[in-house]
Amino acid sequence: MKKKVLVTRAVFDETLAYLAQHFDITSNQADQKYSPAELAARLQGMEAALISSTDRVDDSLLSRCPGLKAVCSFSVGYNHIDLAACSGHGVMATNTPGVLTDSVADFAVCLALATCRRLTESEAMLRRGEWKGTHLKELLGVDLHHATVGICGLGRIGQVIARRLRGFEPRILYCTRGRLTPDLERELEVAFAPKDELLRRSDIVILILPYTHETHHYIGARELGLMKRSAVLINVARGGVVDDVALIEALNAGRIRAAGLDVYENEPNLNPALLGLKNVVLSPHIASASEPTRQAMAMTAARNCVAALTTGDPPNLLNPEVLRQKA
Ligand code: DGY
Repeated sequence: MKKKVLVTRAVFDETLAYLAQHFDITSNQADQKYSPAELAARLQGMEAALISSTDRVDDSLLSRCPGLKAVCSFSVGYNHIDLAACSGHGVMATNTPGVLTDSVADFAVCLALATCRRLTESEAMLRRGEWKGTHLKELLGVDLHHATVGICGLGRIGQVIARRLRGFEPRILYCTRGRLTPDLERELEVAFAPKDELLRRSDIVILILPYTHETHHYIGARELGLMKRSAVLINVARGGVVDDVALIEALNAGRIRAAGLDVYENEPNLNPALLGLKNVVLSPHIASASEPTRQAMAMTAARNCVAALTTGDPPNLLNPEVLRQKA
C-alpha cells in the first residue's frame, strides 16, 4: 500500500504526477487555506505533508498528528515551522533553498526601482485619467544609480541582490550577523557597516534577512528615526521584520520617503492604513513568483518528501537532530 501524503495548497500537475508515482496523494487544488483545526483533521492518516508558508506547524498541530513523519515546505523561509517541536515529535522538516534565489533577487531590484520611481502611483494617476501631459516637476522620484544601498542580511539571496545591483554603480553597505570574508567583500564590492551606521548612511535599505525572535521588528520606530528623510525602505524578507505600525507612522510623517513592501505582518490581512498611503509600493508576497521558480520550488519540496519517506534523509532537512534521535 502506498504511503499517504497531503498537499495543503494547489500545486502544478507535474508535481502531483511525480508525487503520485510514490504516494497516495490528497491535494488541495481548490487552494482554500486550511484552518489549524482543518489541517489537523486532514493530516490524520498522512505520513507527510507538502505545506506552504501559510501553514503553521507547531506542537499543538503535531500532537494531534502522531503518524506524521515529514513536513516539506515549498518555501525557503521556515518561520512558520517550529523546528524544536518537529524534532520533539520525530518529524523531519524541509524547505527549498537555492531555487528561488535569482527570482527573489530580481524582484528586490524591481521593487526598489518601482518605489524609487513611483511607478504604481504614476500608473494609478494615469488610469484615473488625471494625467495632463508631462511637465518638469511631475512625480519626481529618486535614483537607484549611484545611490548608497544598504542590504540587511547578506546571505544567499542578499549576495545575488548585490551582484544584480552592480550595473547601477551603487555604493553597497551590508550588515549581517557574521561578516563576509575580505575576499568575498571585494568580489561583491560591498562594505560592512553596523546596523545603525548602515541605516544612517543608506539612500535605499533592502531587507532580506530571516525572520526569527532576534529579527522581530528589526526595523521599528527607533531604526526609522535613524534613516535619512529621503530614504527608501524595501522589504522582501518577512512580515514581522518590520513593525508595520511604526512604518506607517514614519511614512505618514514623511520621516522616510517611501517603502516597497512584498511582505507584511499578519498576512494576508495587511494593515489597511498601508492601502491609503501614496508613498508605498505594495505587492502580495510574490518575490519568488515566476513560473519556473515556483515550479522548481514545488518539485524541490516533492523531492524532499520522497526522500524523507524512502531514504529517511531528505536533501534540505532543517532539523538534522531528528535523524540522530532515530539512529
Ligand atoms: C519563501 O520561499 O520563503 C517565499 O517567501 C515564499 O513564501
